[in-house]
Amino acid sequence: MRITVIGTGYLGATHAACMAELGHEVLGVDVDHDKVARLAAGKLPFHEPGLPELLERGIASGRLSFTSSYEEAAAFADVHFLCIGTPQRRGEMGADLSHLQSAVDALAPLLTRPATVIGKSTVPVGTAAQLGVHLRALAPAGGEVELCWSPEFLREGHAVEDTLSPDRMVLGVDPARPSRAEAVVRTIYAHALEVGTPLIVSDLATAELVKTAANAFLATKISFINAMSEVCEASGADVTVLADALGHDKRIGRRFLNAGLGFGGGCLPKDIRAFMARAGELGAEEALTFLREIDAINMRRRTRMVELTRQVCGSLLGTRVAVLGAAFKPDSDDVRDSPALNVAGQIQLQGAMVSVYDPQAMENSRRLFPTLDYAASAREACTGADVVLVLTEWREFVELAPADLDGVVRQRVIVDGRNCLDPTVWRDCGWTYRGMGRP
Ligand code: UDX
Repeated sequence: MRITVIGTGYLGATHAACMAELGHEVLGVDVDHDKVARLAAGKLPFHEPGLPELLERGIASGRLSFTSSYEEAAAFADVHFLCIGTPQRRGEMGADLSHLQSAVDALAPLLTRPATVIGKSTVPVGTAAQLGVHLRALAPAGGEVELCWSPEFLREGHAVEDTLSPDRMVLGVDPARPSRAEAVVRTIYAHALEVGTPLIVSDLATAELVKTAANAFLATKISFINAMSEVCEASGADVTVLADALGHDKRIGRRFLNAGLGFGGGCLPKDIRAFMARAGELGAEEALTFLREIDAINMRRRTRMVELTRQVCGSLLGTRVAVLGAAFKPDSDDVRDSPALNVAGQIQLQGAMVSVYDPQAMENSRRLFPTLDYAASAREACTGADVVLVLTEWREFVELAPADLDGVVRQRVIVDGRNCLDPTVWRDCGWTYRGMGRP
C-alpha cells in the first residue's frame, strides 16, 4: 500500500521504516526540515537497535522517503498515519495536543479524495472523536474522510520487534459511520495477522483507553513491587526473591516486577498524569486517584537512592560518586524523565563530585544536564570513586566483574539501583554491596 507517516519522532520514524520493511511505499512527513534531511540521508536521530538497518534498506529500495510538504503527502497516498508526540503540558498534568491539532489542520484541507487517517499517538480518551469531526469539516472530501485510532504499544529498545510483531493490534472506529479502516489495516498488517496476532476492533474511546490503561497497569505493577521493596527494607526481606516467587503465579507474572529506581522515560510518567487529568475532566477523577500514589511511590525511589548513597558514604559532601547509566532504561539513549540522571543531579546538588557514564546517552545527557561531569568509559567514571552507583541496567554494567574495578575505585562500595548485580559475587570479593529492597 502507499501510506504516509506524519511525524517522524521515535514512533513515526520506527513506524515508517517498519512499514517500508513490510513492502509498503512510505512517505514520512515532518515539519522539522533538519530531521527530514537527516532521515532521508539514512541518519537516525536516536538510538534504537536494528532500526538503522531498516531505515537504510527502506531508502535503498526506493520504498521509503521523507518530506516536509503536506501537499506532497496528500497527493502521495490515501492512508495517513498520525505519529505526532503528545508531551505533558508545561506546568500541568494534561497532554499537549497542539502538535497533533496542527498536523490535522495542515493535512485536512488537502484531502480532496476519500482517505483513511489512522491515529497512533497516545491521546486522552475522546480526542479521536473530536479530531474526526474537525477533519471532516476541513477536508474538501468531507464525509469521505475517515479518522480511526490504532494505538501503538512499542517499547524503546524493542521498537522494531514490537512494530513488526506486536502482541495485539487495536483499531478504534466510529461505529456510526461506514468504515474502510479494518480492510486497510488488514492489508497493511497482513503478515502479522497471518501468524495469528489478534486484531481487536472497537469504538474510538475504547481504543484510546486501551493504551492509557495498559500504561497505567504497567506503572502500577512497577510501583507495586517498589512499594513491596519499601516493606522489604523495613522488615529485612528480599524483594528480588519475593518478585520471583510472586511471578510464578500465572495470574501475576514475573515481568515488570523488577524493583529498583522505578519508571521514567517519555511515556509512563506523562501518560499516567494525562490519564488522571482526563479522568478529572470527565468527572471520573476518583477512579484514578490511586495513580497519584503510583506516581508518588515511583518518585520516592529516587529520593531513596540518594539516601542509600548517603548512608553508605556517611556524607555526600566532597564524596566522589561514579554513576553508571543515564538513560531511563537500557538499549535506549532517551533521558526524558530518567531516574538515573535525576539521582545523579540530586547527589551533585548535595555536594558530591559525580562522574556519569552511559554507553549511548552521553550526548542527550550533556544537553539536559550540562553541569554534571561525564566520563568516556565506565572505568574512567569509577576512577577514584568512593561509591559506584548502577542506575541503568545496561548489559555492560551487569557483566562488570569486581576485578574490573579493583584498584580503580578508592572505596569498594557499590549501590545497585536496578537490582541487576549478584550481591554474593561482589561481597565475596570484599565489596560493600547494597541493592534496593534487599538485605
Ligand atoms: C512503555 C510501554 O511499555 C509501551 O508499551 C508504551 O508504548 C510506551 O511506554 P517504554 O517507555 O519504552 O515503553 O519503556 P518500558 O520498557 O515500559 O519501561 C518503562 C520504565 O519502567 C523504565 O524506566 C524501566 O526501567 C522501568 N521498569 C520496567 C522498572 O522499573 N521495572 C520493571 O520491572 C520494568
